[in-house]
Amino acid sequence: MHISRGAGLAIAGLVVAGAATATGIALTRTPRRDDSVEVPDTPAPTAPPTAGTTPLPVPSEPSPGPAPDPQSGPAPATTGEITAAVVGPTTYTVRSGDTLSAIARRFGTTVAKLTELNQIADPNRIRVGQVLKLPTSVATTPAPPTPAPTTPTTPTSPPASGQPRVPSGPAISRVPGAGKRVALTFDDGPNGAYTDSILATLKRRHVKGTFYVIGQQAARDGARLTRMRDAGHAIGNHSWDHSQLTKLSRADVQSQLKRTSDAIERTTGKRPDTFRPPYGARNAAVDEVARGLGMRDIIWDVDTVDWSRPGADAIARTAVDNARNGSIILMHDGGGNREQTVAALDRVITGLQAKGFELVTVPQLVAAGG
Ligand code: NI
Repeated sequence: MHISRGAGLAIAGLVVAGAATATGIALTRTPRRDDSVEVPDTPAPTAPPTAGTTPLPVPSEPSPGPAPDPQSGPAPATTGEITAAVVGPTTYTVRSGDTLSAIARRFGTTVAKLTELNQIADPNRIRVGQVLKLPTSVATTPAPPTPAPTTPTTPTSPPASGQPRVPSGPAISRVPGAGKRVALTFDDGPNGAYTDSILATLKRRHVKGTFYVIGQQAARDGARLTRMRDAGHAIGNHSWDHSQLTKLSRADVQSQLKRTSDAIERTTGKRPDTFRPPYGARNAAVDEVARGLGMRDIIWDVDTVDWSRPGADAIARTAVDNARNGSIILMHDGGGNREQTVAALDRVITGLQAKGFELVTVPQLVAAGG
């Protein structure tokens, strides 16, 4: 039931002069817009977007329902941009979906400071396009992690550090500018049957991964989340209960994402700054809610289709054969029988390293892409 179709096949992207304008078409059985982009390492391409041609895998598990809502309109023009990036931004242009508290969190400051610095009369009323001054002394310093009041485990473990902050921006499916690096991602955990095996293999191979966790599972499995964090892995938001968010009201999407980020923060002390929509299903509302909560959409460009249980060899081959510089590779540590994924992981790592790839977390990949 965790079918990861669609977005992995939609690698079309176009980035214009560093601004966040992207267009792409997803060639899936149910065409839908997908404006995820590859972060370019060279000046913006001027070629038109190209559509993916990989045949759509036939799901062997029940479909989550009708395909992603095709009526999701184009995302609003993204106007936000960060200026003066040499020593950290000094101003920020408000985007659609922003709130002052989200902006404050993103730049490691407070609503009070932003309100004062910008002489804002009502913190609840900022407009798109409004240029906010940022306190320069904290512009590049992430907010300190909030203490975890309900976490009984590992009080002496270090705060969630070691992961670079992921700046806001358009969705990412690959980071070509990251050089010979790729990111392994594991969705739908934490899971009592498989996550520990994945963690053990990653530890034995000295590899860091990124886990897109389901909020309601994370909320009752804080110990496993803490272990992920302490082992140096990155943790992202994969919604509260793996709903297809394009079918929910904006208020419900907000609830799905916020409850999950709250649960992750309570356990790990760090709010996630990346989000992966279940099934890759996105629309403008989903993107705006995620952005408002300080999260960037992370899709993928290599889908191992491990949920369909094609065999460990096939999973490994798909990952290794399709990996390119900056690839984001989709696998699962929950949501169904993942024995094949567990069995494949060692081969995946061996194959990718044999091709010269360093395996890093998604935040590290994004940072490496500059
Ligand atoms: Ni999933």
